[in-house]
Amino acid sequence: EKIEAIVKGFKLPAAAYKRAMTLLNQELNNGLKSQKSNATVLSMFPTFVRSTPDGSEKGEFLALDLGGTNFRVLLVRLNGQEIDIQSKTYLIPQTIMLGTGTQLFDHIAECIGKFVAEHDLISHQLPLGFTFSFPCHQEGLAKAKLSHWTKGFRCEGVVGEDICQLLHEALKRRTNCKVEIVAVVNDAVGTLMSAAHGDRNCEIGIILGTGCNACYMERLDNVHTWNKEEKDFQPKQVIINTEWGAFGDNGCLDFMRTEFDREVDTFSVNPSKQTHEKMISGMYMGEIVRLVLERLTHDQLLFRSVDRECALFERGRFYTKYVSEIESDTDEFFRHTKQVLDDMQVENYTTEDCKIVKYVCTLVSARAAFLAAAGLSTLINRLNKQDMTIAVDGSLYRFHPRFHNLMCLKIKELVKPGLKFRLSLSHDGSGKGAALTAAVSLRLRNLKN
Ligand code: BG6
Ligand code: GLC
Repeated sequence: EKIEAIVKGFKLPAAAYKRAMTLLNQELNNGLKSQKSNATVLSMFPTFVRSTPDGSEKGEFLALDLGGTNFRVLLVRLNGQEIDIQSKTYLIPQTIMLGTGTQLFDHIAECIGKFVAEHDLISHQLPLGFTFSFPCHQEGLAKAKLSHWTKGFRCEGVVGEDICQLLHEALKRRTNCKVEIVAVVNDAVGTLMSAAHGDRNCEIGIILGTGCNACYMERLDNVHTWNKEEKDFQPKQVIINTEWGAFGDNGCLDFMRTEFDREVDTFSVNPSKQTHEKMISGMYMGEIVRLVLERLTHDQLLFRSVDRECALFERGRFYTKYVSEIESDTDEFFRHTKQVLDDMQVENYTTEDCKIVKYVCTLVSARAAFLAAAGLSTLINRLNKQDMTIAVDGSLYRFHPRFHNLMCLKIKELVKPGLKFRLSLSHDGSGKGAALTAAVSLRLRNLKN
């Protein structure tokens, strides 16, 4: 009972998720209005991506994927439904993540230079699609100004700047490759484009990884922030990057936040920002679990004889991958849970302790999955199509053993009766999506000429 009193904030009734849906729908509408007010929390950026791929895309493209767990450079060869991808992951040291913009873009350019040389492409004229997984105000497909940093990045001198221009200048400074930056996309958009290549019913993309975000195809008539003259051009639709990680930043989600959410926020690099993201995504879930475990230990409801100096009491030390590992234990041996507790330097734990640890993980991850499901249900209801595929990517969704099932369960409960949906993991994710966006854009450019 004492444990229940501490964790009850994570066990929310269906009505709470329904209330979150109503609020999110209001915020989506506010964000699409032309006159933004201070109360507008969702950026709802029009992305300038107006068409999903039609399968006829062809050519050789470079792609960059920056902002998730890995930074990757990719070579994508498209030939209709046949796609060949070669990629390499490069490290971005923390000093660069928290350094200057020049250092960041020089580093990216150097990685591109190395990749191009290794693949013998120096003499090739290559179009490049750039997946940049941060909030950007787009003024064109290849003109994107960073609105603010999220997740672990905070490079000086980039906010308000056009990241294409910064990359272009760095490429000139650091390499001699002939690269034309054709498109910048958010990872949610890349994920959607990638899945839409093989599935015409796909009009929503969601990221459940380090961060959490979603995008969807919106009718231009509803996008009051879109230039009126452009509304006459076909197709009359555009993908909107919702940046829904910021949902709740005006306090509207406070009714479902716990003391642990507030503490995670206080000690984050961006307090009062990305409220929704902090209740769902991989950058924060492990820490929420850790704080609950710390509290239970403090109240002598868990680990009766634990050393106060052990890693369990260090901020940020309990990774979200541990939550996935613990929840994959299905028998009474708690093999993974024990491994994690050993890693956390907890000694003398009992089977009862293991049960409690797993219970906490299941509550925190179920709330995250249900909240993500409520967000998706809001979009599914809004688009109101009989059959909808949702493209999903991100390490949380990929590696958590129950996230997919929990989400499906909740979405079924929350969408309008009769609407069918399918959550589909977007293989090769946004790197491929960025190349496809570049390809679509070149196809449309050639049509115009
Ligand atoms: C990847 C995409 O698969 O998912 C990335 O290619 C994206 O662009 C990522 O940022 C999100 O997941 P994570 O877990 O790496 O943040
Ligand atoms: C953060 C970023 C967003 C991105 C998401 C997933 O929320 O602001 O742009 O899509 O993380 O990576």
